[in-house]
Amino acid sequence: MVTQEAEWTKLADLSEVPLGEAKAVQIGEGRSIALFNIDGKLYATDNQCPHMGYPLTRGRVRHGILTCDWHERSFDLEGGGCFNVECDDLQTFPAEVRGGEIWVELGDWTYRRKAEHLSLLWEGLLSGDRWTMSKAIALLLKGGVAEVEIVELVLQHLGRHIASSHGSEAGWDIARLMNGLAVGRRYNDSDRLIALTTAASASSGGAAERLEVVPLPEPVGWENIEPWVRTFSRDGHSGRIERCLFTAYTLGDAEKILPLLFECTVEPHFLGFSDNLISLGYLSEAVDEFGWEKASELVFNLGSKLVGRGRGEPQRFRRDAIGIMREKLSELETGEKTTTDYDEDAFVNAVSSVDVQRAFDAVTSALRGGVSVDKLISTLVILSADRMARTPVNVDAGWECLTTELNLAASLRTVQHIAGDAAAAKGIFHSAWLTFDNRWLNIPSRTLTPLPVEVEFNAGSEEEGLQQITNAIETLNVQAVGGQVLGYLNAGYSSERLLHALGKAILWDDTGMEILPTLRTVLDEWKNCAGHPARNQLIVALARYATDIRTNKDSQSATTTAMRFAEGRTTVEIFDD
Ligand code: FES
Repeated sequence: MVTQEAEWTKLADLSEVPLGEAKAVQIGEGRSIALFNIDGKLYATDNQCPHMGYPLTRGRVRHGILTCDWHERSFDLEGGGCFNVECDDLQTFPAEVRGGEIWVELGDWTYRRKAEHLSLLWEGLLSGDRWTMSKAIALLLKGGVAEVEIVELVLQHLGRHIASSHGSEAGWDIARLMNGLAVGRRYNDSDRLIALTTAASASSGGAAERLEVVPLPEPVGWENIEPWVRTFSRDGHSGRIERCLFTAYTLGDAEKILPLLFECTVEPHFLGFSDNLISLGYLSEAVDEFGWEKASELVFNLGSKLVGRGRGEPQRFRRDAIGIMREKLSELETGEKTTTDYDEDAFVNAVSSVDVQRAFDAVTSALRGGVSVDKLISTLVILSADRMARTPVNVDAGWECLTTELNLAASLRTVQHIAGDAAAAKGIFHSAWLTFDNRWLNIPSRTLTPLPVEVEFNAGSEEEGLQQITNAIETLNVQAVGGQVLGYLNAGYSSERLLHALGKAILWDDTGMEILPTLRTVLDEWKNCAGHPARNQLIVALARYATDIRTNKDSQSATTTAMRFAEGRTTVEIFDD
């Protein structure tokens, strides 16, 4: 029985720990203390190995060195210092024998290892080891460290990693980081931890030191920088843009930088580089979330790589499309665009007609007719969701192309928010081009009306309906899942609960990393497209995508173990559960 006296606690009778033996004593929920009787002297340590949580009572002691039985990390039994540099020190406690009883001074358990755990996270980010990241994040959160502080470190790492190791393709990393954060906020506990760890994993990799970027010498002002950035962007000189952006920032023109980058990337010559708009959207979010000081390195470096990327010689269709878009832009006026009542069916037919001239004509006439950019974005979002909801899955479903369509359309809301209607209107041409470019998918054109329910749905309750849908995802039943989602929604059951359950199924599957951007888009667009008759296609699309690319692996262990680890429990108890 555990007895307490001031800071000292009686943990056992001496007779319970014979000479040369060890014993674990539970103290409160989770945590246990290891008692060792070595050469007649009593030692007390945390029983959880700081490496991966194996119980140290199962280790061995020689010459005052305690060695864990799992991966052989060794510790000074008395002071707790770890002899292996990549492992934390072990917490030890003063122990004494009083009249046949073992007393231990447990002291207070206030969390004091923030610095160590932040450097553990940094190490995990460098090595890409998911367990190290999960453990560090779980310990930091358990210790009361604010999530924002953890994520700032991840962002700082990502900035260095991209600057030293990646080109414009790194937009994918920032997408997963920002979407992991956004999705994680909708969940708690281990669900949130897995979203955060997935976001951190996406940011991991080598991060070498690089030369500091310094501002251009005076006299330089925004009036020089703006045309220079546009020129370098058009000419594909990414390296020259970064210094211009940094100079603008030091001159106090930070708020002009993102609109300029968006304006550069909606130009006709960037048709076919849709990831530019999507990635710039996430960079804007990073600035919103963390401020310029924290996000500037990442934004300047990746932003330059995006808007200054080489584009090569365009093939025939793209070359023609660039020419048509230039012509159409000259026909557009800058007047107010507020009409929401327009012929959506005609617009959708034209955009998905496999005729780029017709598609761009339709965009131009909608914009000239004053149709609001918001409205057109919603149409494009639902169009891409509808295509995902119908793409045949017995051949190459084209998920990468289709999800890019969806995410690009949704990203135009950020373009509109940051750079205004004119830039977003140009972005609509990019969205229409992508639908044309994905013509090989052969998805027939149709009006944006509700899909017919082709599968019998007979769940007796909302609970049962949710269960059927998650079972279909887990058993890879992509033929059934779309119909089940429609049946569930048509029955009037909660869409919020369904989205929550779908997100959870995705997070705990190995596809989480890949699906995060689309999951987040569907979560946001479900609200943005409220009232649209074909809105249900968003959830059908997500469910089919998640089911079809699922691989049925198990990514739960690192996160689950990390959660229990942070509670102080040993792996044996965790696996016994
Ligand atoms: S060395 Fe102890 S758990 Fe790995």
